[in-house]
Amino acid sequence: MGKDSLTITDNRTGRQYEVAITDGAIKAVDLLQIRSGEDDTGLASYDPALQNTASCRSKVTFIDGDKGILEYRGYPIEELAERSSYLEVAYLIVKGELPTTTHFSMWQHNIKMHTMLHENVKRFIDGFRYDAHPMGILIGTVGALSTFYPEAKHVEDLESRRTQTRRLIAKMPTIAAYAYRHSLGLHYVRPDNELSYTGNFLSMLFRMTEAKYRPDPVLEHALDVLFILHADHEQNCSSTAARVVGSSQADPYSVVAAAAAALGGPLHGGANEAVIRMLREIGSVSKIPELIKQVKAGERRLMGFGHRVYKNYDPRARIIKRIAEQVFEVTGRNPLIDVAVELERIALEDEYFIKRKLYPNVDFYSGIIYEAMGFPVEMFPVLFAIARTSGWMAQWAELVTDPEQKIMRPKQIYTGHPRRNYIPLDERRDGGALETEVRGPL
Ligand code: CMC
Repeated sequence: MGKDSLTITDNRTGRQYEVAITDGAIKAVDLLQIRSGEDDTGLASYDPALQNTASCRSKVTFIDGDKGILEYRGYPIEELAERSSYLEVAYLIVKGELPTTTHFSMWQHNIKMHTMLHENVKRFIDGFRYDAHPMGILIGTVGALSTFYPEAKHVEDLESRRTQTRRLIAKMPTIAAYAYRHSLGLHYVRPDNELSYTGNFLSMLFRMTEAKYRPDPVLEHALDVLFILHADHEQNCSSTAARVVGSSQADPYSVVAAAAAALGGPLHGGANEAVIRMLREIGSVSKIPELIKQVKAGERRLMGFGHRVYKNYDPRARIIKRIAEQVFEVTGRNPLIDVAVELERIALEDEYFIKRKLYPNVDFYSGIIYEAMGFPVEMFPVLFAIARTSGWMAQWAELVTDPEQKIMRPKQIYTGHPRRNYIPLDERRDGGALETEVRGPL
């Protein structure tokens, strides 16, 4: 067995360096000692999309992308989806261990006592246009909560962190439901704390004139499982956004607003919305070959396929596919499932997808279930955000208590103009060199 180190020869100078390898990584700052001369500030690693950069140590979630394994705090996702509940998983993710019976009832109580929103928050939501995207409402409203709880800025205070975490997990479904009802011009439904976490959410969404809303147990359970599957996914785009914003010691409401903003993009949590739009556009199985042709020609992406980490079947997609059948027994079959299943079959046999290891991800089937349950597509990323809040809070808490962390501030490789002198406005000619250089990304 060799040494846990890396020997680097700098061919510019002929010098050799030995850099320690710990946990399969070298420290990027150890490269700083490698200099080509007096003026050199040291070698940097260049990694534009952070594809091979570990930015933290984390105990929350383990993924083996080649084998298709996902575990929260060491527990396989399949067991949690089968035997646990979202609130229990949220406790596990946030606290690190499964709760005892006593701790679980305290946790449920503590979450439920925070489900209501300040009346001013309702008025804030009222201010959005009737057709505002609910993800925009969610992002804006959760960010605004920092003004209601100014003590949240004490990120170093454990008790404050705990309170804000409970508040956020409790209030996200309420904000989401109000955003949905706002789009329909319906009155807001107060939380019903006699119901489960997901049962109460369904009540706040769908209750009309009935005195008590009774969620269908199959749909309530299906949504709960979907929430479990979405609770955390280690250093994904939105968790990284949470960590970047949190590293400036911003309050947790701003952190979650930033994370939700990252989640809303079509390459991340917005993909489930994009999948449904794509499946609707295809419409029937006969049009699949044409879509595959466009994807292979690089004209578009197959939404809900591919993943930065999974180079195998996403274990969450397998569970979701199974739940879909249970949901359809209550809601009736969503015809898009047949298009999706056939699309998956064709894609998985195609050389293009095999070579690139592109498999269905969590978003491929989740939207079909959400649609069958009566959610408009705009709500899909919002549902993702509710579930992911526990993960964001766990990642944020790790960050603020990690002595190795500092404000995040990556380097750049400057490719702009060398130093030059200012030219007065009246000396800049139309059609001159300056004008033709204005061809940047903006
Ligand atoms: N359809 C067609 N080709 C694809 C796809 C796709 N969905 N995804 C990746 N590729 C190709 C890509 O063109 C590239 O091919 P080539 O080597 O010939 O240039 C190769 O596969 C590698 O792709 P990449 O863009 O370098 O991979 P990435 O790790 O940067 O991107 C991804 C990961 C998830 C953004 C991407 O697979 C994608 O855009 N998928 C569709 C959107 C989607 O479903 N997102 C949800 C992700 S899972 C849930 C979540 O994170 O929220």
